[in-house]
Amino acid sequence: MPTKKITDKKTKIAVVGIGYVGLPVALLFAKAGYDVVGLDVDEDRVARIMTGENPIKGREPGMDELVKNVVKTKKFIATTDATKLADRDMIMVAVQTPVEEDHSPRYEALRAALKSIARHMKRGAQIVIESTIAPTTMEKVVRPAVEHENGYDLNKDYLLANCPERVMPGRLIYNLTHYDRLVGAYNKKAGDNVKALYEKVLGIKVDITDPLTAEIVKTGENTYRDVQIAFANEMALLSEAYGANVWKVRELLNKCPGRNMHYPGAGVGGHCIPKDSWLLIHGAKDSISTKLIPLARSINNFMPHHMYDLLAMAARQIDVKVEDLKVVVLGFAYDANSDDTRNTPTTDLIEILAQNKVKYTIQDPYVDEYKTDLKKDLKDADAIILMAAHDEYAKTGLKGLREMIKTKTPILVDGRNLFDKQKAEKEGFIYKGVGNI
Ligand SMILES: NC(=O)c1ccc[n+]([C@@H]2O[C@H](COP(=O)([O-])OP(=O)(O)OC[C@H]3O[C@@H](n4cnc5c(N)ncnc54)[C@H](O)[C@@H]3O)[C@@H](O)[C@H]2O)c1
Repeated sequence: MPTKKITDKKTKIAVVGIGYVGLPVALLFAKAGYDVVGLDVDEDRVARIMTGENPIKGREPGMDELVKNVVKTKKFIATTDATKLADRDMIMVAVQTPVEEDHSPRYEALRAALKSIARHMKRGAQIVIESTIAPTTMEKVVRPAVEHENGYDLNKDYLLANCPERVMPGRLIYNLTHYDRLVGAYNKKAGDNVKALYEKVLGIKVDITDPLTAEIVKTGENTYRDVQIAFANEMALLSEAYGANVWKVRELLNKCPGRNMHYPGAGVGGHCIPKDSWLLIHGAKDSISTKLIPLARSINNFMPHHMYDLLAMAARQIDVKVEDLKVVVLGFAYDANSDDTRNTPTTDLIEILAQNKVKYTIQDPYVDEYKTDLKKDLKDADAIILMAAHDEYAKTGLKGLREMIKTKTPILVDGRNLFDKQKAEKEGFIYKGVGNI
């Protein structure tokens, strides 16, 4: 594929897997004037997108308009028909890459996607893996999956690269168009193609490296966050033990140059952070016994348990048995203003509440199952556990919540530092925040 074909927008593109990542990627290329096919196995999702509906229901700036406007231009079609890959020059893969119970990568979606790509792709096409993958996956899984299916020779019959994504829900379009990327390429041409296309369309800079380095960098980026969050969570637990406020500690600690203490909280969720550190260490587990990274995972996994401990602490303070409390859990999505419920820590919390016979209901304005009436939910409640800092809760505010909750001494367990402890206590709440009790 000559670079001129890319810069002249003649390159025909496919994105396989049009979920949180693949859909905005496909639409941005189509908006820039490229002919784009979005392939997915989810018929309902494909049909909804083709009516111009944005299937992502959280607060996602620019996405509603992007879907509606680009679908109208006919530069983009969403389909479940893999034969539509046959004339594509560049095929990006953005399918999910979760982990199994034992933390090893679960590549069924990746393997299935590669199989249909390999069956239909033309000679000379390029595959770009955008999904997050464990180090050595390009060499041990991706290449064999393609070449076993179609017998193509790498760099002769097809080009291959990985270009990991740096998006997150709530900032999909922003991150795609502002965050620089790296491409791990098997040869110069494969790297140059991705660089030319992405720099032109997304207005970002692309570094070229080898596939293994790109795999380690991407999983390392998210592992960095997981480890930093674990440190922040441990600092929160220490602050509680000493009777200090972790948020004041964090503010002052970060004034020391070179320090960047993250936010502590009720737990880590989403598709990526809870699993990418397992992906990072997976391929090396026979040669090195990693200690810090699994420990960080277990500290972060403990935080929903700690939310229960804070509830129990507040119950003791007012001499009530925790199993006699009626609790409303605010936020089922893993993050503020998102509809993404994958690996949400709220699932762990409600399991712990059930084990301890605490009666609870869940409210979430972004998750269909839990779009209940907050006022009605709180009427008979004794306690609130805040798991996601949705704007709706901030807007309701302490005064609003206090008016809705009728009990004499309501409990507020704040997992996201959304509310001020002093103000909450002034309103009559027994307030327990992570790192600030
Ligand atoms: N969500 C994020 O914020 C984020 C950020 C950076 C990287 N990533 C990585 O990007 C990848 C995709 O994540 P996501 O959040 O978009 O996942 P997702 O589940 O939202 O989207 C994946 C899509 O792929 C489709 N799919 C599955 N198998 C398929 C197949 N065989 N053929 C065609 N389509 C198929 C699914 O139906 C789904 O629509 C993952 O590897 C993830 O780790 C995600």
